[in-house]
Amino acid sequence: MTQFSGIQPTGLTHLGNYLGAIRQWAARHHRDDLFCVVDLHAMTIRHNPNVLRARAREQLAMLIAAGVNPDIACVFTQSDLIQEHAALTWVLECVVSYGELARMTQFKDKAKGQDGVRAGLFTYPVLMAADILLHGAEEVPVGEDQRQHLELARTLAKRFNATYGEVLTVPRAVTPRVAARVADLAAPERKMSKSSGDQSGTVLVLDPPELIRRKIMRAVTDQVGEVRYAPESQPGVSNLLDILAACTNGEPRALAEQISGYAELKERTAEAVIEELRPVREGVRELLADPAELDQLRAHGAERARAGCAHRLEAVLKVTGLR
Ligand code: TYM
Repeated sequence: MTQFSGIQPTGLTHLGNYLGAIRQWAARHHRDDLFCVVDLHAMTIRHNPNVLRARAREQLAMLIAAGVNPDIACVFTQSDLIQEHAALTWVLECVVSYGELARMTQFKDKAKGQDGVRAGLFTYPVLMAADILLHGAEEVPVGEDQRQHLELARTLAKRFNATYGEVLTVPRAVTPRVAARVADLAAPERKMSKSSGDQSGTVLVLDPPELIRRKIMRAVTDQVGEVRYAPESQPGVSNLLDILAACTNGEPRALAEQISGYAELKERTAEAVIEELRPVREGVRELLADPAELDQLRAHGAERARAGCAHRLEAVLKVTGLR
């Protein structure tokens, strides 16, 4: 069962990314799986080239520090395979329709009120589909917010196969049992996100312990006064229970019964998050301090990824008449 997933080096990696995606990748990966720093995706909005280069490196270090073992799974940087990913993207752009892309809610949200929206922001879900389909993924472990993009990837794989012949594997999304949509601590009706202007409700993976504690202790709760798992009526409290459950491999409802008040809930959650992220922060620091080692890991990942996808891209080119 091949898994593929990716993370953008846009902005700084937060607890939502970690619990919704990275932690699942670290917990379960095998030799055929691939995890990717999708730096091409980070160009769909204005970016600074030096920052992108540095963040992509940091992101690669973070996946490894979080426990995705590069001796087992393939961990690579998307732009190292720019020719392969861009080639399949073009083919799939000639499979997708304009209307399908115009319906993507993430595009509509991100483009709203912006001047000079990049065409890449519009076609971005095709690049994402190409990432998945190029590597023959059967499962794509992601957070809840990627479901619509995954549906599009499935549609494109099926349409491609029906039009040209069975070449592409039809993938499916796999979301975690808890914390598939971590909310912003300061505004629990919103998902925690890299782009929210206000950072007070966003715990970053590399935040120092004291800052994590402060952000969690200030999390917005409610006036109910009872610790209950009720995502609709008590989103703030339920979000903390989700986070605590994810970090301790627990169950949010069972935890709610053991915890008597909001202060205790926040303290336990802060402690669990700090302990969960501590080794990741330290591991990133160590890997970034050894550039030669990180370069070597990156090159090894790229080589494996390229070797694994070459036959599939060749088959795509053949059935579409390009070879
Ligand atoms: P990105 O970089 O925005 O997020 C990376 C992963 O983090 C998950 N995530 C969350 N999970 C729970 N709660 C949250 N608040 C939260 N915020 C983000 C995302 O669901 C994602 O799994 N388009 C993708 C990157 C991508 C990709 C791919 C993913 C490119 N190609 C191929 C899978 C397969 C994205 O922007 O994720």
